[in-house]
Amino acid sequence: MASRAGSERVLEKCRTTVESYGRIYGATRTVECKSCHFVTSCGLRFVKSMFDVLGQLAEAGLKSKVPLTANPRPLDRKQYPFLERLVGGYLYSKQEQLEDLLLRLGLMDREAFTCTPYYIGNKPSYGDVLAWAESSAVIYANSVIGARTNRNSSIIEIFSGILGETPEFGLLLDENRRASWLVEVKTSSKPDPFILGSLIGKTVGEDVPYITGLEKWGLEEYELKDMGSAMASWGAVGLFHAEGLTAEAREEGARLIKDAHRRLVVDDKALKEMEAEMAKGASPEKTDLIIIGCPHLSREQVSHWARRLEDRKFIKRTLMLAAPKIISDVKGSKDYQRLREAGVRLSSICPLMFTNIPTSKRLHIATVSGKLAYYSHAVFFREDALVETFTVRR
Ligand code: F3S
Repeated sequence: MASRAGSERVLEKCRTTVESYGRIYGATRTVECKSCHFVTSCGLRFVKSMFDVLGQLAEAGLKSKVPLTANPRPLDRKQYPFLERLVGGYLYSKQEQLEDLLLRLGLMDREAFTCTPYYIGNKPSYGDVLAWAESSAVIYANSVIGARTNRNSSIIEIFSGILGETPEFGLLLDENRRASWLVEVKTSSKPDPFILGSLIGKTVGEDVPYITGLEKWGLEEYELKDMGSAMASWGAVGLFHAEGLTAEAREEGARLIKDAHRRLVVDDKALKEMEAEMAKGASPEKTDLIIIGCPHLSREQVSHWARRLEDRKFIKRTLMLAAPKIISDVKGSKDYQRLREAGVRLSSICPLMFTNIPTSKRLHIATVSGKLAYYSHAVFFREDALVETFTVRR
């Protein structure tokens, strides 16, 4: 453990780095932050510098001043096919080392690994400033909760957590939270959140959209989560407003739209075209693995799937993903029993890290996640299409 002077030196380095980073984006000061979410949660064998930095912080006895959670783990030895277990174990061989370091740096608990920190107790309030990285969590916090965070670079988020301060720029400021796009949803049925989110993200890029026409379909909170994750991957959206549904839109309504804005009309045809692009290369008969839960599922969403699969059974190996805490809550419940009977296995991994294992490329993967389909070789299926194609009546 470093001396007091040594600790202060390391803390000062954190401050200098965070302030310099902020200055690049025009920040003139740092402001208090209330929560930290760390993105680089995989102990990749070949990464050295991140371990050096985290090691120096831990040796200096520094800890996050605010609740700290981390992205999902890359490995689940129980659920991986043999080859991926072997190669994944080699690729992510520093996982234990990373988890020990994060615990020393103040990780909320040993199981705080998920991209949905707001479901496991790291849930900010409206208006709170955060230092989060992980695009799907950032867009959820900004949009659904009405908290304020930028899409931080990895390491900057944990430096901010340790300082309890983060640079004030971007989505922390009112003027950057107003919408420069009006998106009018005019579909004849409830749109699939992942397809709609992908289309919006692809169109608006990194801008802020204000969406109308969704209220009447009564989107669940978890559907907003899924839609946001697709916007953040097909584009680089960090905040969206949905009339009557998201935090700031409920307070301020259309006043959030800038006078000079662009317009996107989403109809059935536009969604069909987007779906065709996302589902390119689908080959149901060759599929080896189905992945549901990217981002991780909420407790309600697990129940939704249990109801959906009540009298059905998957004909392919199926992984459903949620935070470790959500899975332990589910175990022993009727939902759990139903899912097991439907052939579902529950896990808490990040499937993207699974698809980063080179041998996984031999597997044909189907997913309902627009984010996973964008970043990996997994092929997208709309929820209805997935159930229809890959389940049979029990
Ligand atoms: Fe979460 Fe990994 Fe998907 S971090 S959003 S499960 S790519």
